[in-house]
Amino acid sequence: MSNMMSSSFSSISCIVYLVLAFCAMSLDQAEARAFFVFGDSLVDNGNNNYLITSARADSPPYGIDYPSHRPTGRFSNGLNIPDIISEQLGMEPTLPYLAPQLTGDRLLVGANFASAGVGILNDTGIQFLNIIRIGKQLEYFQQYQRRVTALIGAEQTEQLVNSALVLITLGGNDFVNNYYLVPFSARSRQFSLPDYVRYLISEYRKVLQKLYDLGARRVLVTGTGPLGCVPAELAQRSPTGECAVELQRAAALFNPQLTQMLSDLNNQLGANVFIAANTYTMNMDFISNPQAYGFVTSKIACCGQGPYNGIGLCTPLSNLCPNRDIYAFWDPFHPSEKANRIIVQQILTGSSKYMNPMNLSSIMALDSRT
Ligand SMILES: *[C@@H]1O[C@H](CO)[C@@H](O)[C@H](O)[C@H]1NC(C)=O
Ligand SMILES: *[C@@H]1O[C@H](CO)[C@@H](O)[C@H](O)[C@H]1NC(C)=O
Repeated sequence: MSNMMSSSFSSISCIVYLVLAFCAMSLDQAEARAFFVFGDSLVDNGNNNYLITSARADSPPYGIDYPSHRPTGRFSNGLNIPDIISEQLGMEPTLPYLAPQLTGDRLLVGANFASAGVGILNDTGIQFLNIIRIGKQLEYFQQYQRRVTALIGAEQTEQLVNSALVLITLGGNDFVNNYYLVPFSARSRQFSLPDYVRYLISEYRKVLQKLYDLGARRVLVTGTGPLGCVPAELAQRSPTGECAVELQRAAALFNPQLTQMLSDLNNQLGANVFIAANTYTMNMDFISNPQAYGFVTSKIACCGQGPYNGIGLCTPLSNLCPNRDIYAFWDPFHPSEKANRIIVQQILTGSSKYMNPMNLSSIMALDSRT
């Protein structure tokens, strides 16, 4: 008798245990937030490997400090900004949307649609041939949602997209690889710089509205870095080593208008959907005082050739610094993993000088309560 009782008791506790385990599992799933990434080479994690384009980072020494120590298509010696965001938030890293491995349950982690060379405008980066322009990235996002719908149903897919974190990085190439690509470029003959910036902002607004229409509800939007201070521009435009004036002027016009546009969009939507990350100031901190951040230089790229290692591409034949951690710039245009870590730290915990209307830690705390 007592035996029977204890056996039925243990089967009840087993059921209770199973229910608890199930609850714990579904809580876990609710907490694992999907992550979607859009934009250019600052956030591309390998899509261009699958395209016929000259904008690629799939040969050494790219990836030299990546866990595999091999090139992956990231424009970094190691991790890039979205990788570090995933790492810091305890999420699995996303795969490039074009990677054949992105199937089944792996789709639920999210996806990276970014493509090196693209800008806000379709005519940005035409010299790179076949890249995934932003309109096409958004089309792929729709295609992604159809694929996930086939997997988990429409309602769950909408939920996954609405609760996801999104990162978008665009704008730098519209200056560097369009307006200022050559003297007397078509865009610079068409627009004065202030008019061009206003045009970019109005086109960017349409892109972000479309992202919202596709279900995005938490979108980190980075501004441009200090475009005139990258080793490539120092090499080409700065006899004195000071940041190149015209590109700095472009960034100074673009970034405040971007923040304002995001704030207008949020007001129109009645919610803080778009979060402005002031990557200009985040970069400028370590560019103007590299030693304070453990860098020996912010002017010379680790990998490259010519003045500031700023000429041409980073290739197996380039100069390569032995310790990437003490260089702010990995190649003539892109920050090192170490610099990317400083940037992500500010995205996570920065004050209103860096993040508007709030930092990513506050967003995560807010969203976990709703
Ligand atoms: C860019 O190209 C896409 C696809 O061809 C088109 O739908 C879109 O209107 C274009 N954008 C601009 C600003 O011309
Ligand atoms: C992150 O943002 C919140 C809200 O604005 C702020 O209270 C907090 O101090 C910020 N974190 C840091 C480290 O500044």
